[in-house]
Amino acid sequence: MSINRKYPNTRLRRLRKNLNLIDLVSETNLTSKDLIQPIFIKENFEGMEEIESMPSIHRFGIDQALKEIEDLLNAGINAVAVFPVIETSKKDEIGSEAINKNNFIAQSISKIKQNFPELVLIADVALDPYTDHGHDGIIVNNDVANDETIEVLIKQSLLLADAGADIIAPSDMMDGRIGLIRNSLEKENFKETILLSYAAKYNSKFYGPFRDAVNSASNLGNSSKSTYQMNISNKNEALQEVALDINEGADIVMVKPAMPYLDIIHSIKNEFKVPTFAYQVSGEFSMLKNAINQGWLDNEVILESLISIKRAGADAILSYAAKDISKEINKI
Ligand code: PBG
Repeated sequence: MSINRKYPNTRLRRLRKNLNLIDLVSETNLTSKDLIQPIFIKENFEGMEEIESMPSIHRFGIDQALKEIEDLLNAGINAVAVFPVIETSKKDEIGSEAINKNNFIAQSISKIKQNFPELVLIADVALDPYTDHGHDGIIVNNDVANDETIEVLIKQSLLLADAGADIIAPSDMMDGRIGLIRNSLEKENFKETILLSYAAKYNSKFYGPFRDAVNSASNLGNSSKSTYQMNISNKNEALQEVALDINEGADIVMVKPAMPYLDIIHSIKNEFKVPTFAYQVSGEFSMLKNAINQGWLDNEVILESLISIKRAGADAILSYAAKDISKEINKI
């Protein structure tokens, strides 16, 4: 970096004279192709209902979800992450419905892929939508048991891959699950299934509205995920998590949440130079959206937040605002 430049020979404002100049020298470019829309699909339900803590975001019945995906594609969004909202009566202590061969999410994934073969479909691997205690795994002696949980996650992964998911995304933070899932996918001939590891997933309070959305909040109660999700204070540990997951066979790694963890995104991208995604989670979205709806913040804060995530080093971003921002970018 040259440090000899001096005013008035150097005036950085020359390149800010108008918007066209500003655009020409812009260092970060956010496009629709960088955005992934998470969608909630609700079992035994028709139509759509708004999620109270996530203004403008809905739970969809499967038919309505298909319509929504068509809208998304028309808006320029080519990738979705699907999250199931399961019948309460089907939740149990070990999340058995997660590996039930013809379960709701497997059926939904096949329908979606039949209708939209080119769409990139990401499916979460974790037990929290299916357990009556709201944890991501199986509980033994009052804690989520790592190795027992992985056994189930492997079956869940094979089921999701078989249903047609392009990308399987373990979001549970068990140790060693990427390697074991990868081995099983290879063995069962799912050689092209992509593994997106939620590698640096923090034990964050920003997930609150999501837990409302999938109805796991009340199940979880005051219980915390601190024995498996990462301590919010740590960065070296995030680098170790990522290194392990890449060595175990992850194709893409993810940081979550996004905006409060821009330093983590930056360090991971710099250190490993592998495809790195970020998840702008429910609480981040709600915070911005509610302030916008109150008139306290301009709508552009969402675009600003996404550009900052991309500037930090994210290749793609999961965001509840994906559709709206894509329309804005493409002037639809
Ligand atoms: C669960 C899962 C969570 C999210 C995605 N997958 C919540 C959690 O860990 O409790 C959060 C997404 C969001 O807040 O938008 N495995």
